[in-house]
Amino acid sequence: MLPLEDSLPARALIIGCGDVGLRVASRLRALGREVTGVVRSDQSAAALAAAGLAAQRLDLDIDAPATDAPLVFWFAPPPGEGDGDPRLRRFLATRRGASPRLVYISTSGVYGDCQGRWIDEDEPLQPLSARARRRLDAERALAEWGGDHVILRVPGIYGPGRLPVARLRQNLPVVRPEESPYTNRIHADDLADAALCAAARGRPGAAYNISDGHPTTMCDYFSRCAALLGLPPPPQVTMAEARRVFTPAMWSFMEESKRLSNRRMVEQLGFAPRYPDLAHGLPGCVAALTAPPAMVASAS
Ligand SMILES: NC(=O)c1ccc[n+]([C@@H]2O[C@H](COP(=O)([O-])OP(=O)(O)OC[C@H]3O[C@@H](n4cnc5c(N)ncnc54)[C@H](OP(=O)(O)O)[C@@H]3O)[C@@H](O)[C@H]2O)c1
Repeated sequence: MLPLEDSLPARALIIGCGDVGLRVASRLRALGREVTGVVRSDQSAAALAAAGLAAQRLDLDIDAPATDAPLVFWFAPPPGEGDGDPRLRRFLATRRGASPRLVYISTSGVYGDCQGRWIDEDEPLQPLSARARRRLDAERALAEWGGDHVILRVPGIYGPGRLPVARLRQNLPVVRPEESPYTNRIHADDLADAALCAAARGRPGAAYNISDGHPTTMCDYFSRCAALLGLPPPPQVTMAEARRVFTPAMWSFMEESKRLSNRRMVEQLGFAPRYPDLAHGLPGCVAALTAPPAMVASAS
């Protein structure tokens, strides 16, 4: 496989340049690439400027970014309501003809519930939640567009600044291990590295599960975080109790259980996660949280 630095174009646009986008941007700049980020708020535009990035500020619900960059990362989420992704569809309508390569972050929620089975990217897409149906619409929009694109199906992202501290401080319950569904995770830095590998090596039109390859349960994740943060372990409840006490958003994650194979990512993208499981990935996130500000900045 060609090294990344020989396979990426000179310029890239990151649409939805938030946490993951900034991680990708810093890697691209280290490789000498010119990067522009698209965000909606003044605050996020200021964060891009502070990171030395060019910023386009616009609302994807109204406008589509104008660009002639040969590489586009689409990291903006669909709107919070409805069954589709009009933001992405609006942009793609402006990109017929001269097509950039587009790397799109989707979600593993598009598979719906797989009753804990190991699955790969050929699993039928049967989203349960409205959130995942909007992602499926985005994936379909990309297929209908027909331009060069790569889809990343991403599970729960964790990393420095992305731990469930508030939830653990509220002492909210988790489903006990015997009944807890399987969940899959990826460290935010691994996701950023995988996105670059996808840009350089992803096959046109292909989808990739971007996961650390070691699924655990929700109970395991929250209990590990609590232990590392020095917080009390979350109380454990049965599935029946959870159905009564969880918010609809929390419950929606209980209805899906699957174990994601990342074999296609490893074989075709040539990417092996630096953090292959929570035991490797979580301690550094907590250390970043408790380190003095200067160290936090350099760790992220
Ligand atoms: N959290 C997870 O575990 C998970 C799992 C799977 C997939 N994902 C997806 O992964 C992607 C990247 O995640 P992330 O953590 O980097 O997200 P993030 O930090 O929230 O960044 C999202 C970016 O999208 C921009 N954006 C949102 N709505 C916009 C609009 N209407 N117009 C213009 N810009 C808009 C935001 O700009 P402003 O800040 O200015 O609003 C922000 O820069 C997201 O699509 C997320 O949904 C997340």
